[in-house]
Amino acid sequence: MKILMVCLGNICRSPLAEGILQDKANKAGLNWQVDSAGTGNWHVGHAPHKLSQKVAGLNGIDICQQKGRQFSSDDMNTFDLIFFMDEDNLADAKQMAGIHWKPAKAGLLLDSLYPGEKKSVPDPYYGGEVGFHEVFELISKACDAIIYKFGKTHPSVINPTV
Ligand code: 4NP
Repeated sequence: MKILMVCLGNICRSPLAEGILQDKANKAGLNWQVDSAGTGNWHVGHAPHKLSQKVAGLNGIDICQQKGRQFSSDDMNTFDLIFFMDEDNLADAKQMAGIHWKPAKAGLLLDSLYPGEKKSVPDPYYGGEVGFHEVFELISKACDAIIYKFGKTHPSVINPTV
């Protein structure tokens, strides 16, 4: 299964989400390929934010080799599931994907923990290190829920009702 994590810059939140979910999937023996992208293009080719790298490393996950890239409409075909860090990211990607948008594959990351509550992973970009630790914990819990939900049965949709 191929899973994409999407935020705005692809340097703070989604690189953490990629690293965390890939690590959990590997440890669970799941043959998942996890990637990440940003709706913005400012950080294409850049390594993750130093504090994302640091907090991942403190938790035993190496994300230093990741490179930022921009979300593209092709991603709607390439990936089985696409998780967005906040509603703006989802709305922007929907607009970028145009006719290629597939609502059944797309959802907010935190819907896996709090279904229907439309909660966002807060952007830690403008704050200090503590925000990155909080984001790590939140994403880690959401990824546990994803492993639990999709790891057993491999369903092909996030939103079966849309
Ligand atoms: P991210 O955080 O979406 O979690 O990667 C941001 C990183 C960079 C910018 C905004 C958000 N930026 O405006 O450059």
